[in-house]
Amino acid sequence: MTTAKIPVEQLTEDQAKDELAHLAKEIAEHDRRYHAEDAPTISDAEYDALQRRNLAIEQFFPHLIREDSPSRRVGAPVSGKFEKVRHKVPMLSLDNAFSDEDVIDFVARIRRFLKMEAHAPIAMTAEPKIDGLSLSIRYENGRLVSAATRGDGQVGENVTANARVVADIPTVLAGDIPEVLEVRGEVYMTHRDFLALNERQRAEGKQTYVNPRNTAAGSLRQLDPSITAARPLKFFAYAWGEVSEMPAQTQMGMVEALKSYGFRTNELMCLCETARELLEHYHAIEERRATLGYDIDGVVYKINDLALQQRLGFVSRSPRWAVAHKFPAEKAFTILRGIDIQVGRTGALTPVARLEPVTVGGVVVTNATLHNAEEIERLGIKIGDTVQVQRAGDVIPQILGYAEDRRPADAKDFVFPTVCPCELKTPVVRDATAGGGEGVVRRCSGEFACPFQRIEHLRHFVSRRAFDIEGLGEKQIEFFFHDPDLPVKSPADIFTLAERDATNFKKLKDKEGWGAVSASNLFSAIEARRTISLDRMIYGLGIRHVGERTAVTLARGYGSWKEFHDAALAIAGGDIAARDEMDALEDIGDAVIDAIATYFAEEHNRRLVEALAAQVNVLEAERPVADSPVAGKTIVFTGALERMSRDEAKNMAERLGAKVAGSVSSKTDLVVAGPGAGSKLKKAAELGVEVIDEDTWFQRIGG
Ligand code: IVH
Repeated sequence: MTTAKIPVEQLTEDQAKDELAHLAKEIAEHDRRYHAEDAPTISDAEYDALQRRNLAIEQFFPHLIREDSPSRRVGAPVSGKFEKVRHKVPMLSLDNAFSDEDVIDFVARIRRFLKMEAHAPIAMTAEPKIDGLSLSIRYENGRLVSAATRGDGQVGENVTANARVVADIPTVLAGDIPEVLEVRGEVYMTHRDFLALNERQRAEGKQTYVNPRNTAAGSLRQLDPSITAARPLKFFAYAWGEVSEMPAQTQMGMVEALKSYGFRTNELMCLCETARELLEHYHAIEERRATLGYDIDGVVYKINDLALQQRLGFVSRSPRWAVAHKFPAEKAFTILRGIDIQVGRTGALTPVARLEPVTVGGVVVTNATLHNAEEIERLGIKIGDTVQVQRAGDVIPQILGYAEDRRPADAKDFVFPTVCPCELKTPVVRDATAGGGEGVVRRCSGEFACPFQRIEHLRHFVSRRAFDIEGLGEKQIEFFFHDPDLPVKSPADIFTLAERDATNFKKLKDKEGWGAVSASNLFSAIEARRTISLDRMIYGLGIRHVGERTAVTLARGYGSWKEFHDAALAIAGGDIAARDEMDALEDIGDAVIDAIATYFAEEHNRRLVEALAAQVNVLEAERPVADSPVAGKTIVFTGALERMSRDEAKNMAERLGAKVAGSVSSKTDLVVAGPGAGSKLKKAAELGVEVIDEDTWFQRIGG
C-alpha cells in the first residue's frame, strides 16, 4: 500500500519516511534489473516518475533524506563478479525530454539560468543517444590502463581485460595526448552483428539475446575475455572523465580531439543554436534511425561551451547542461508462444498474445492484444510464429505481422473457443453490431453471473482514470472479490469495507499479504475518493461506449449527478425528449445513447448505481460557456506559452466551449502559437488556418 498519489505537501512525516524507504527499495530494484540483469520491467518514463517523486519528497523533507537515497546514486550497484573501481569523476546520467515542449523548456531554462536574453542564440550540440552501455577507459601516457562500466555512477566494474579486446577501442593512442585521459562513450552492437551472433548461439544451442543492447552488455561482462573478443563490439566516444590538460574548450572540440586520438565518434553530431534547430536535427536523425544499423533511443543535446557547462553544473545525478530527447514507440520481433482468452467487463472475449519476453522501447513486453478472431485471421499468425510487436507510449503492445521465413513446421492454428472460459462455461455469442471500432465481438452470454465480467467491472471502476483508488489495483480487487469475510461484489461494497472490517471478527490487517499500515492506508485511500468528480463517476460505471472523453462531455452537459441520472433513467424508459437532449451534446450519438439506455434499463445496474450513489458524494461539473467567442471552435496550442501553462490553456479553452486538438488539420479553426512553434505553424500556414499569439488570445476571450 503506498502514499504515492498524495501530494507531497500533504504527506505526514511518517508517511514521507515510509514512502522514501519504499522508493529507495523500488528504484534500487529497477536499477538492478536494468544494469545487472539487462532486463528492465518498466519504461524510462515510469522510472523517471519514481525518481522525481523521490526528489520532491526529499526537497520537502530534507531531514529525511536516506543514506541509500536513489538521488545519491546513478544506476545499480555493481553485480559482484568483477572487481570494483571508483570513478575519479562520477559517471552521471542524463535528464530526459519527451516532447518538443520539454526541449523548448530545456533551452529556456538554460537561458534563464545564464541570465541570457529570451531568444539569444546559444551553441549546443545534438547527437544520437546510442542504446548500449557506457564505458570509461583510462589512458596514462597514451596507454590503456583500465576500463570500467558505469555501475552506480560512483563505483563501476573493472572490465579492463575485456575492453582491451574490443577492436574499436585503441590500446595505444596516437598524437599529442594528455598525460591522463579518461575517454567515455558507448559500447554497442550493430543489428547485423547481433542477428549473426544470435544465429550462431542458436546453432550451438546456447542462450540467445533479446536485443543488441543486452547482447553488448552481456558480451562486455563476460568473465572470460576470449568470449568478449569473439563478440563484435563497437564503441563510440562522446565524453570524458579525468583529463590532465584539456585539448579543447568546447564539446565539439573535445569530440574532434577524441577522434584525432583514434576513437570513432558519431558523424551525426552537429552544432545548433536554438530549440528549433535542435528539433529539426532530432527529426532528421529520427528519419535515418531505421537505416543506421545500430540502436539509438533518442538525441542528446549538450551546451557546447565547456565554461558554460561548468557554470550550469548538475542537479542531483544529471547535468543541467544536457538532456536526452527520447524517441517514441518502437518495434521488435519475438515468438508468439500462445493465445489466451480474456473476458472483458462487457463480456467481450479478447484474444491476448503470450509472447516470448522482448524489450521494446526499453520495456519488457510479454503480451499483446489481438482484438478479435478476425484480427488473428487478418494477421495470418499461428502459434510458434516470430511476430513483430510495436509499443507506443502507454498503450498495450500490438502485433504488426509475422516473419514468413521463420515459421516453424509445427506452427499451430488458433481455434477460437465457443464457450466462456469462466466456470459457467456459457456459450459465446457473435456480436457484429458492436460498432465503435470494435468490429465483430464474441461475447460471453453470462452477463452478471459471469465472474470474469464482474471482476472486470470492478477493475474498471477503480482504474486510474475512474475512481483511481490507491492500493486497490487488479490484484486486490481479485482478492476482495473472493474474500469470504470482506467480499466486494459491486462498487458500493468498496465504500463499506472499513465499516464492515470494524465489526468483523477476522480483521483485514491480520490477513495474509496485509498489515496494520496497508489496511489503514487502503481505508484512507478509499475515504479520499468518497468525493468524486462527475465525469469520473460516469466513466467509472463502465457503460459501453462511454469512454473518458464522453464522460467529460456528459458531465459538462448535465452538470450534476442528479440531472445525469434522471436523464439516463428517462432515456432508458423511452423518453424521446430526454434522448434528443443528450443527442444535442457534441460528439454524442446513437451508439452512446443506446448503450446508456441499455445499461439503465437493466434492473441489476440500476440497483448497483443507486447503492453506489448512496455511498459517494459527486461533485458538480463546471458547465462550459455557450456563447464565448471560441465556443465550438477547434484550437491548437503550440510553442512556448508564457502567460499560462499548457494544461491551463487547455482547461481555459474547454471551459469556454472550445475543443483542444494536438495537431493541426483541416478541422482546426485557430492556432495559438508561442515562441519556438515549428511544424504546426507551417502546417497552419499551408492550410490557411488563422494563427494568433498569446496576447491576442487573451484579448479575444476577454481575459
Ligand atoms: S552524455 C554527463 N552522450 O545515456 C552525461 N550519453 O542517460 C554523460 N548515452 O550514461 C553522458 N549516448 O550511457 C551522452 N551521445 C551520448 C550518449 C549517452 C548514449 C548514454 C550513456 C549515459 C546515458 C544517460
